[in-house]
Amino acid sequence: MLAMNYRGPQRVRIDEKPEPKILHPQDAIVRVTRSCICGSDLHLYNGNVPDTRVGMTFGHEFIGEVIEIGSEIQKLKVGDMVIVPFNIACGKCHFCKQGLFGNCHESNSQATAVGGIFGYSHTAGGYDGGQAEYVRVPYADVGPTVIPPGMDPDDAVLLTDVVPTGYQAAEMGGIQKGDTVVIFGAGPIGIMAARCSWLFGAGRVIVIDKVEYRLEFVRNYANCEAYNYEEMDDPVVFVKKTTDWMGADVVIDAVGAEATGNVMQTITGRKLLLQAGSATAAHWAVNSVKKGGIVSIVGIYGPTDNLFPLGNVVNKGITIRANQASVKRLLPRLIDHVQNGILNPKALITHRVPLEDVADAYHIFSEKLDNCIKPVMIPPSAR
Ligand SMILES: NC(=O)c1ccc[n+]([C@@H]2O[C@H](COP(=O)([O-])OP(=O)(O)OC[C@H]3O[C@@H](n4cnc5c(N)ncnc54)[C@H](O)[C@@H]3O)[C@@H](O)[C@H]2O)c1
Ligand SMILES: [Zn+2]
Ligand SMILES: [Zn+2]
Repeated sequence: MLAMNYRGPQRVRIDEKPEPKILHPQDAIVRVTRSCICGSDLHLYNGNVPDTRVGMTFGHEFIGEVIEIGSEIQKLKVGDMVIVPFNIACGKCHFCKQGLFGNCHESNSQATAVGGIFGYSHTAGGYDGGQAEYVRVPYADVGPTVIPPGMDPDDAVLLTDVVPTGYQAAEMGGIQKGDTVVIFGAGPIGIMAARCSWLFGAGRVIVIDKVEYRLEFVRNYANCEAYNYEEMDDPVVFVKKTTDWMGADVVIDAVGAEATGNVMQTITGRKLLLQAGSATAAHWAVNSVKKGGIVSIVGIYGPTDNLFPLGNVVNKGITIRANQASVKRLLPRLIDHVQNGILNPKALITHRVPLEDVADAYHIFSEKLDNCIKPVMIPPSAR
């Protein structure tokens, strides 16, 4: 089959790989019909995530058709078209039972923090991902959810990650009616977090990035304010000034390890890899939230350490909430929101490319070329 193949930092290509097989009675094999590239893939692409092995296929955002099931599968049927959450979850462990499907204790034997994730290095279980024609889906009766009839596949594929992550970013912010919410990052996740902040009662939503076309996009899509941090002396002072020097009620970090904006963080976090990515947005979030406020972090940092202003967290009495999104927990509500027109995720898709052009798609998304917000790749059998 055709599959994306990681060859080393900033080097990916399309290759022939063996088709996946059922390895466990609870597996299914899915024929991929859409897969996306995510900001999370850029951490792998840029070599920021340890134990990202040459030969791995990335891709944790995909939908497709079930073509084979293991002997213990009861709910899923061959022929079902499914949304596959990016987290791999057993559904039965202590954490899954609490709805913490991103922290499953069974699906990632390598770690005690994150659960398994498709195509996300051996620190997240070493599973091959969905930027391919076929993919093996473990615990297939747990995560995969049948796409409701009539749902546009472009909406469905964004329910695997972007919509739940943006929604959970706002949810973890504990937004109260009238709150001012500041979001660092105007990628797909920041854009969706901005849109969802209104659903929780925000009174004012401000997005900060440096890529002008993304600021323009989020202003229109999420009906919010959007500003370029490269035009500010200091983004923290900017946020304080615009909130009567109080700070924002809630600040969301939707940037993660690839952050720019602070030379020291960029050199230590991205060039020398002395820390697990640049923590610039996390810094700005802690310093621009009000005393007693909430910082919600969905931006991803690699294991294990970052330079982080812990003293300010303590002295300001800040609550920090963070996690990988718990996609399965949120799916029923978010499918409703898409079907009722409350959320329109497919508007984020700016690029539809053949799977064979995976290297170009990574380059365009990574370098923010051609007004790219979100690329979706379509394998030959789905075209
Ligand atoms: N927690 C989860 O479950 C989860 C799920 C999906 C994605 N993520 C993470 O969310 C983050 C965003 O994902 P995405 O797909 O939107 O990525 P993206 O790379 O498309 O967007 C990131 C944006 O941040 C901007 N940026 C860089 N430095 C900044 C700074 N200092 N302040 C403000 N903006 C800055 C970039 O210009 C870019 O537009 C990534 O870290 C990704 O790994 C987390
Ligand atoms: Zn993703
Ligand atoms: Zn579990």
